[in-house]
Amino acid sequence: MGLTTAACLCELGHEVALLEIDGERVARLQRGECPFYEPGIDDLLRRHLDRSLRVTTDMDQALRRAEVLIVCVGTPQSASGAPDLRALWKLLGDLRKRRPAGPLTVVLKSTVPPGTNRRAQSRLGPGFTVVSNPEFLREGTAIHDFFHPDRIVVGAASPAAARQVADLYRGIDAPVISTGWEEAELIKYASNAFLAVKLSFANEVAALADGLGADVLAVLKGVGLDRRIGGHFLNPGPGYGGSCLPKDLAGLLWTARRRRVRLDLLPAARRANERQRRRVLAKLGPVAGRRIAVWGLAFKAGTDDVRESPALAIIPALLAEGARVAAHDPEARHTFAAALAAAGPDGLPAGLELADDPWSAAHGADALLVLTEWPAYAAASPAEIRTALAGDLVVDARNLFDPDAMAAAGLRHIGVGRGRGR
Ligand SMILES: NC(=O)c1ccc[n+]([C@@H]2O[C@H](COP(=O)([O-])OP(=O)(O)OC[C@H]3O[C@@H](n4cnc5c(N)ncnc54)[C@H](O)[C@@H]3O)[C@@H](O)[C@H]2O)c1
Repeated sequence: MGLTTAACLCELGHEVALLEIDGERVARLQRGECPFYEPGIDDLLRRHLDRSLRVTTDMDQALRRAEVLIVCVGTPQSASGAPDLRALWKLLGDLRKRRPAGPLTVVLKSTVPPGTNRRAQSRLGPGFTVVSNPEFLREGTAIHDFFHPDRIVVGAASPAAARQVADLYRGIDAPVISTGWEEAELIKYASNAFLAVKLSFANEVAALADGLGADVLAVLKGVGLDRRIGGHFLNPGPGYGGSCLPKDLAGLLWTARRRRVRLDLLPAARRANERQRRRVLAKLGPVAGRRIAVWGLAFKAGTDDVRESPALAIIPALLAEGARVAAHDPEARHTFAAALAAAGPDGLPAGLELADDPWSAAHGADALLVLTEWPAYAAASPAEIRTALAGDLVVDARNLFDPDAMAAAGLRHIGVGRGRGR
């Protein structure tokens, strides 16, 4: 989020110093290489690097002449469900010691639980003005989303501070929602919680459709055309993942527990998501001793991010049941391998192989499991899939394929809610 924000702010005409503590990331950025996959970011980086964009590990250099500091550090989920705010407090601690010459506005763009901006303001004290400015961009379309947000949310203690931050986005046509700190923080949490509920709802309607022999895509089209509901995020799948939805829902639930507020709906959405992973796994039937091809490791198409991706839960479960897995992803091979290596010392677990292309993963497999909606997978022809596989089962957890065309090619196609599922 930090790199996208920095590069897009340059595009709006601002001068930006990107402060990053990871030396390897900085070295790559200084060479004009983006350390992760995000469409369009390389071009922006090349256009602005060493002109209006500087990349540095030096806080003093980054703060020189700065009027605004935008905080984009990670706030990952900790074991209790609470977001881990250590990177944020460390950064603010370093900042406080420096006491910049002029007044500095500190914008918290990282997603944080309600109450954090208020705490940040009291820790930093006078001379600093803290403003909440949550971000809603989606990985895979981050640059488009930066320039075409549905709204810009600014939570501040004074109208002048709110105006200063809203002005950063001058040139972007979007409503500005000006609120207090806690409201802005809760807008972000509640938005992601709602999206998680919507996806779990779609998955439960899909399970019902499977039970009834109905096609969920027709059902949800009919539901989503109701403008009070809307069709976005109403797609059944292998369960939501990514760096935001699971973590922010956990953060909201933790916040509710701390404030002793009882919530019924949101814990249920989370349980439904866990069950969805198991439902997709069950569609494969017994897997011990079988070779399973998996297409897709990233949590969604358009990114190499595997944080909380369905594949990270489902592939280890397949291996634990005794399957051999050959998996492919056009972008996330390395991030996936790194995430697994982080879980254990010896690299890839036994029984898992990461293939260079989708067809070598599929070749000779007893079944194919599609977990990510990459366009290249959707473009695969049923006849080619039939030829590549030794077996005939395709579990299509993203509903990429037409069930009739798959059946005509001699494949047993099981989608999510397509009326033929287990
Ligand atoms: N990724 C998204 O699509 C997205 C969207 C909306 C909101 N967010 C929120 O934005 C925040 C960041 O998410 P991300 O996915 O970009 O995380 P990330 O972990 O990919 O990036 C955080 C970066 O901050 C750097 N960092 C940590 N401490 C630092 C310090 N003291 N000084 C300078 N750099 C420091 C890390 O090295 C890392 O490169 C999170 O709170 C997340 O919830 C992310």
